[in-house]
Amino acid sequence: MPAKSGITLITTEDGSHSLYVPELEETYHSVHGAIRESQHVFLEAGLACVLEKKPAKATLNILEFGFGTGLNALLTAIRCEGTRPVNYHSLEKYPLTTAQTAALNYGKLLCREALFGQLHACPWEKTTAVTDYFTLKKINIDFRDYKTRHQYDLIYFDAFAPGKQPELWDKGIFRQCYALLSPGGVLVTYSANGQLKRDLSAIGFTVAQLPGPPGKRAMTRAVK
Ligand SMILES: C[S@@+](CC[C@H](N)C(=O)[O-])C[C@H]1O[C@@H](n2cnc3c(N)ncnc32)[C@H](O)[C@@H]1O
Repeated sequence: MPAKSGITLITTEDGSHSLYVPELEETYHSVHGAIRESQHVFLEAGLACVLEKKPAKATLNILEFGFGTGLNALLTAIRCEGTRPVNYHSLEKYPLTTAQTAALNYGKLLCREALFGQLHACPWEKTTAVTDYFTLKKINIDFRDYKTRHQYDLIYFDAFAPGKQPELWDKGIFRQCYALLSPGGVLVTYSANGQLKRDLSAIGFTVAQLPGPPGKRAMTRAVK
């Protein structure tokens, strides 16, 4: 995917923006609602599940595949405020420009413009305490090259669709995810692709197909 070229701003059905990538003929989020999809897949099926499963865990470690617009980071920072501190690492090979992120309406719609601006202003490769409850490290790297000793409680797997970037849905990537998760750790993704679920099961995850957000029948949650 060539970096940034030709990407255009679109408005999805819930009024929130997303981006369209002509080279892939693909959007960053569901056209049925970007905020609605992120809230459903990553916050409700992912974060809420981990908060419940790990009530005694003082700080949650989250890894995101694909920082993109920063929408998942923003929703997570808002959700964790005053409840559970989150240490959030996000991988991104093609960072958006400041002009592209400044045009997005997530901060405005969620009444958190300053926070959204802070997430994007954080320098890459540095751990930044954005709020008392949310620490962010954005890492400019290809998913496949990420090596770390960190263990995560939750992975947001938010690559472009398997049909568009099949190399990012390879079994090897999910083996890497399994190794990166602590026992009981959770991976969530919007995809309910059959091969993906078979691969996750073969690796050792307990896999559940859950109802998807509007416009999508199903999504996947996998527990280590
Ligand atoms: C479906 S978008 C979602 C992004 C983000 N979670 C959001 O809500 O805006 C997928 C993201 O993965 C990034 N990406 C694509 N290929 C990648 C790769 N090989 N390594 C790391 N990031 C990649 C894209 O640039 C894009 O930001």
